[in-house]
Amino acid sequence: MSEQNTTERKILVTSALPYANGPLHMGHLVEYIQTDIWSRFQKMRGHKCTYVCADDAHGTAISLHAEKQGISPEEAVARINKERIADFGDFHVEFDNYHSTHSEENRELSSSIYLALKEKGHIASRTITQAFDPEKQMFLADRYIKGTCPKCGAADQYGDNCEVCSATYSPTDLKNPYSTISGATPVDKDSEHFFFKLTDFEQFLKEWTRSGTIKDETANKLAEWLDSGLQDWDISRDAPYFGFEIPGEPGKYFYVWLDAPIGYMASFKNLCDRTEDLEFDEYWNKDSKCEVHHFIGKDIVNFHCLFWPAMLTGADYRAPTKVNVHGYLTINGEKMSKSRGTFITARTYLDHLNPEYLRYYYAAKLSSRVDDLDLNTDDFIQRVNSDLVGKVVNIASRNAGFIAKRFGGQLSGTDCAPELTKAYMEASETIAQYYEDREFGKAMREIMALADKANAWIDEVKPWVVAKEEGKDQELHDICSTGINLFRLLTIYLKPVLPAMAEKAAAFLNVDTLNWADSQSLLFNHGINKFKPLMTRVEQPKVDSMMEDAKKLLESMAVEAAKKDDSVEVSEITKDPIADEIEFDSFAKVDLRIAKIVNAEHVEGAAKLLRLTLDIGEETTRNIFAGIKSAYAPEALIGKHTVMVANLKPRKMKFGMSEGMVLAAGPGGSDLWILEPHDGAKPGMRVM
Ligand code: MSP
Ligand code: ZN
Repeated sequence: MSEQNTTERKILVTSALPYANGPLHMGHLVEYIQTDIWSRFQKMRGHKCTYVCADDAHGTAISLHAEKQGISPEEAVARINKERIADFGDFHVEFDNYHSTHSEENRELSSSIYLALKEKGHIASRTITQAFDPEKQMFLADRYIKGTCPKCGAADQYGDNCEVCSATYSPTDLKNPYSTISGATPVDKDSEHFFFKLTDFEQFLKEWTRSGTIKDETANKLAEWLDSGLQDWDISRDAPYFGFEIPGEPGKYFYVWLDAPIGYMASFKNLCDRTEDLEFDEYWNKDSKCEVHHFIGKDIVNFHCLFWPAMLTGADYRAPTKVNVHGYLTINGEKMSKSRGTFITARTYLDHLNPEYLRYYYAAKLSSRVDDLDLNTDDFIQRVNSDLVGKVVNIASRNAGFIAKRFGGQLSGTDCAPELTKAYMEASETIAQYYEDREFGKAMREIMALADKANAWIDEVKPWVVAKEEGKDQELHDICSTGINLFRLLTIYLKPVLPAMAEKAAAFLNVDTLNWADSQSLLFNHGINKFKPLMTRVEQPKVDSMMEDAKKLLESMAVEAAKKDDSVEVSEITKDPIADEIEFDSFAKVDLRIAKIVNAEHVEGAAKLLRLTLDIGEETTRNIFAGIKSAYAPEALIGKHTVMVANLKPRKMKFGMSEGMVLAAGPGGSDLWILEPHDGAKPGMRVM
């Protein structure tokens, strides 16, 4: 069990490379905190452990995100990188290197791996037909195509299934398909693509996935793919594409998922190139004795457990030692979602709460399984306060005062609870094995059980009573010194999770190191420093204001996004519950009329608008652009009566004049309803 303890291992650790198109959020942190804990643990054990990561910079999502901001993809990536480095740092996620997939190292490695695969006959090419946006002059991935459901007629459904009636179909079945990028109607176009022949690696993968590299739970999922027959993997994309051009194939680019995992190697290479005792080849050669551990979420298993090991083997590199897969974060039982207001960024959390609360809470809930993990705010407060503040820090604060006041800051030379300290020391390997196996929840429970024992012992020996008794100085000194020693051992065991608190504790304990091996010794006749509070309680109001800020941020993001899109009606973006008061006179000026929708149609190039022709009586019709495409198929509107603002000054929009406005209510998206008057309404009637 303790073989790792005696032989030094060389371990390369990675977390998935976060896409550079949005802020880090609480879900991401499940992964980065988990990996950081594991990597810190390995370092404490005396292993040579290197933790690398990078921005995943390439792909269409990122270039579109940049385009929206009116900047180059490089610039957008750089901006996000800056925020990210700060977020990681503040959460104590300590990389040995943080690089980018848009780097020279990655370009070289990607090209050479591709060329090696090609030379060995693992690359095929053939012409495929794909949807093409004639306006943007680019091919469209399925997720950039929407249209009307062929089954129920709901507008704005994605190319694979309908959110309204749950029908499944293929993008070509959509009625009135449009590009979500330009609004144009996609056309079919041929293009030559390059494929990685994954089938060549079927046997290898069947063995690799069952060789202790991944848990059975995940291997069983992969077996479904492996047994039903693998397919070649399309690794090329046509220009325009933000990525690396494929060597010898002008206008063709590597698909982002080809060069993304190679980014692990690139980040490591970048570090090796400036680090004396790190050799790239030693870690990546086919027969390497070093270990490579990836940490990923369950959504990207096929990339890491099929394509990636196959690519590496095909290009004569070693395959990963382990791929560690975790589940998804939910917040108060709900999926993290922008529409529910449960989307909390790393920064919003940091604005209100101590990062180590979250590190501990995640650790307490993590296991080696792929289960999802819930951040329940009540449980969070309760758990952190009861465990960290109530149990661990309490041991130090109960004893530190006496040591300072009565014994000049000096610990005694006697362990007066030898059975307890022995139990603490003996727990070291059990706890270490839990960390090693990513059973962090079990490790935390083991540690808290030890803390309980210490507190129970202190309650029993009652130093505060002994302190008042005549001639019991030595006893008091020994009790408090033992208490401080127990606290020190707990701090060592918690250090991978709570590095900042451990650092403060080290200053208090006046020790240079808190390594794992230090758990096998006690401090005797040792001077310690003044005790300062190591951690304060989580306060409910701070959690509440974090949740409020998260909601506010989402609203402002929605308004910003809407402002940039000139096709959006103003009514859609003013989400304030109650607007400022107006005089009756102002209200009376609004001419609200019943209108009959005599025609409704899609607008070429508009993602959110429908063109409506409204009959408002006396043979007058009005042309209006309404931002209700997400909620209605045009056919569903024709013939309906609704309410319009008839005297709104005509507005010139990108697609023509809009002569008025129809009223609609709802949270937005497909949940938006035009106001429909009851029977008796006739076009032109004044609404009062
Ligand atoms: N860029 C790819 C990874 C490339 S690795 C060669 C990617 N990026 S991501 O930003 O979408 O996700 C980064 C990591 O965070 C992934 O492992 C993903 O599973 C994880 N998570 C993203 N959202 C998450 C939750 N809500 N909960 C838990 N983990 C989540 O995928
Ligand atoms: Zn449908």
